[in-house]
Amino acid sequence: MKKSPLSIAVGVTGLLATSSFVVAESTKGEQKLISPRAMADALHLVMDSDRTVYTRKIVNRLAAKEKVIKASEHFEDDKALVLPAQMFRFGSELVSERAEKLDDVNFSYSLQSIWPVNKQNAPKTEAEKAGLKYIAENKGKNYYTEETLGGTNYFTAVYPDIAVAPVCVTCHNKHKDSPRRDFKIGDVMGGVVIRIPLDS
Ligand code: HEC
Repeated sequence: MKKSPLSIAVGVTGLLATSSFVVAESTKGEQKLISPRAMADALHLVMDSDRTVYTRKIVNRLAAKEKVIKASEHFEDDKALVLPAQMFRFGSELVSERAEKLDDVNFSYSLQSIWPVNKQNAPKTEAEKAGLKYIAENKGKNYYTEETLGGTNYFTAVYPDIAVAPVCVTCHNKHKDSPRRDFKIGDVMGGVVIRIPLDS
């Protein structure tokens, strides 16, 4: 990492202190503002790493390789592991519930796709549609824009969600509600949308 003191400050405060700008001490003791883009990038790094670890070390290992337990959409009835996307959605729902009680914390995130298994995960705003299309057509690139929703200006970032493990591909390709069945490992399957309000 290039700017380690600053990056560490963002990493630690990333999930907690999240107004439009996060203030962190630089190495020289002066205060530095962190842009909404740097904040979104840091938040995404944490969520994407957690998501990858859950998929590889829990779901792929226990369900696909060792066959100890299944992963299932109906995890309660089936006494199974929650799916990686459900794990992500439950986290995002808890964040928005907890953020409501905090004055300074105001951001939201979701996992979406233009080929959604769950139709609720289809893009809704113009920025989401454009961003998901862009990341699917430009492998390895993120999409950054601003949008106005309900009179509020937002910084909106869209990051590719990649098929990192064989289970991602096999499950989506054979799922009855999936509109696409030719995913391969390494493909962009959807994207994480992070939205941060710009008005103070
Ligand atoms: C065992 C089946 C299964 C596995 C494994 C799985 N998914 Fe999914 N995925 C689903 C289901 C079901 C949903 C809808 C979840 C919901 O209710 O929001 C979903 C949702 C998603 C979404 C949101 C858009 C949509 O399709 O609804 C993305 C993007 C996604 N998965 C990508 C992945 C990636 C990448 C992996 C591997 C890291 C993965 N999935 C692993 C079944 C699976």
